[in-house]
Amino acid sequence: MDIAQHKARLRQYFDGVGFQRWSAIYGDAALSPVRRSIRQGHAAMLAAAASWLDGWAGCTALDVGCGTGLFSLTLARRGLQVTAVDIAPQMVEATRAAATAAGLADRLTCTLADLEDLQGRYDLVVCFDVLIHYPEAAFAPLLRHLATLSADRLLFTFAPLSPLLAALHRVGGMFPHSQRRTDIQMIPERLVLATLKASGMEVRRSRRVSSGFYHVTLVEAVRA
Ligand SMILES: C[S@@+](CC[C@H](N)C(=O)[O-])C[C@H]1O[C@@H](n2cnc3c(N)ncnc32)[C@H](O)[C@@H]1O
Repeated sequence: MDIAQHKARLRQYFDGVGFQRWSAIYGDAALSPVRRSIRQGHAAMLAAAASWLDGWAGCTALDVGCGTGLFSLTLARRGLQVTAVDIAPQMVEATRAAATAAGLADRLTCTLADLEDLQGRYDLVVCFDVLIHYPEAAFAPLLRHLATLSADRLLFTFAPLSPLLAALHRVGGMFPHSQRRTDIQMIPERLVLATLKASGMEVRRSRRVSSGFYHVTLVEAVRA
């Protein structure tokens, strides 16, 4: 698979029909049961991540693939100085508008960029439901790059490879075909652990979040 092409397709998707679909899921509009289960799972994942945040006021955070900015706002409300980055212009604009509406624009800088072009060091790096869209061949380089950006802590999600989920994929995927626009890419846990180790990081805690059609593992990694 050509990763540059894959990334270009994701960018186009998340800046078009994907923006409409995901902002509905992340918002409060009425949804089909499938998408409602994704909204519930995603909300549970964000709540778990937020419950792991303590004592970060005044620190710097980078939210990679910020989407509509839900977690960027949480970080800004907790007193962190946040840089929110996304590859899709509409997502960046949505985050910027949300920050302004919430009166948090002074704590939240929004930037259009590709994860792999980012540089610098942040106390906390978060990357939720982004790596789930990349195949195994791209996963390790992306995670390694995220690790270089983190001075201390890295929070991210991946879609765990399990026999049950693999079977679900075989019989039709995580989403019904009529609603599927991006494939969820399952990754073996051993690849996640090996990539973190090679990046000088290790898992501090992790949590499996499952709700209907939403299945991810939330990971908090620290410098080893
Ligand atoms: C499913 S959304 C998750 C949004 C947000 N993290 C959340 O959990 O609410 C995935 C986001 O990742 C962004 N994305 C995908 N590949 C990216 C890349 N290489 N660099 C930056 N953002 C990327 C997409 O544009 C999209 O906004």
